[in-house]
Amino acid sequence: MPPRIYLDNAATSWPKPERVYRAVDDYQRRLGAPAGRGTYAEASETERLVSSCRQRLSRFVGGSEPRRVIFTYNGTDSLNLVLHGVLRPGDHVVTSVCEHNSVLRPLRFLAEHRGIETTYVPCDSRGQVDPDQFRQALRPATRLFALVHGSNVTGAIQPVAEVGRIAAEQGLLYLVDAAQTLGYWPVDVKPLGCHYLAAPGHKGLLGPLGTGLLYVADGAEEYLQPQRQGGTGTRSDEDVQPASLPDRYESGNLNVPGIVGLEAGLTHLAETDLSHEAARLAELTRALLAGLADLPGVTVYGPPAEAPRLPVVSLNVAGFAPQELAALLDAQWSIQSRAGIHCAPRMHAALGTAPQGTLRLSLGHFTTSDDVSAAIAAITDVASST
Ligand SMILES: Cc1ncc(COP(=O)(O)O)c(C=O)c1O
Repeated sequence: MPPRIYLDNAATSWPKPERVYRAVDDYQRRLGAPAGRGTYAEASETERLVSSCRQRLSRFVGGSEPRRVIFTYNGTDSLNLVLHGVLRPGDHVVTSVCEHNSVLRPLRFLAEHRGIETTYVPCDSRGQVDPDQFRQALRPATRLFALVHGSNVTGAIQPVAEVGRIAAEQGLLYLVDAAQTLGYWPVDVKPLGCHYLAAPGHKGLLGPLGTGLLYVADGAEEYLQPQRQGGTGTRSDEDVQPASLPDRYESGNLNVPGIVGLEAGLTHLAETDLSHEAARLAELTRALLAGLADLPGVTVYGPPAEAPRLPVVSLNVAGFAPQELAALLDAQWSIQSRAGIHCAPRMHAALGTAPQGTLRLSLGHFTTSDDVSAAIAAITDVASST
């Protein structure tokens, strides 16, 4: 069997840096204590690691204070906290057709149960949103803009700062889904002008599954109701949920093994020249797009190599369903990809890829040029067999 070529990094990154495995193992064996709930040495060290992770995350997103970083369990959890915690009956939301089901499904639920209305602004054939569409969709009841920073289908980077300026001008709340960008693309909450930034810890940040974060900008907690209440290890004599951050939104024991692993992932990124890494991934993406261009029967979707884009490439090969193609790549070349809708159903109408979707190849921090060459060779082989 050829070695595993993992090109499903948009789902979760793999492998993780060695220090991530070691940190999780060390925590589990040596510390094993809850965070923020004890005074013995292991509990204090655990708390120190969790605080360090919070500080690193705050710096990583350009945050004003570490307490504004809320630990969640994945990107979906962060997005749900904002959508359920902010929206009230009668509110109107403007979002885009490029969103993940982690935004679309809570909005659908809230439409059915809380009378929330949503406008989905379109994208062009390359998956790009026009910020002016957000302005055109405004209504008197509009309360929130929600926009994905980078698409998990096409890799397109959206004009999040421009949309943020419209939100600020109109006095609206603004949620940015940075699931695909954090760790791969510069993210700074201040120029983005967002009130809430949601992201997983297990993709570009290289932490384990079960980690996520929500950054709550200065004062934005005022509009965000906690969705869960419970023990925080603070003010335990009171049965009311603490108002202070991050306790207001962090009830129950945290996923400490995951957070300790995420801390190690962030340490790895701190020791990496991230602009060099971004250029390396852009070069690999350019090579992949160039290798797929002009292959008979191969259609590639999304922005061209020179546009702002992530190392996420969607394609189809004529005569093959995406699932069939993914199974073939795996069986013959051990190339692990993703086929279908990628949890973004509204995107495929815009791209003309409904109902089957696309095959997605997503590169990550450990993808090599050999991996990309193997993918090009395999798809060339499949395309020439039709
Ligand atoms: C754009 C986007 N938003 C949200 C999510 C949800 O993240 P998670 O899998 O951590 O819940 C994903 C995951 O693929 C995504 O690509």
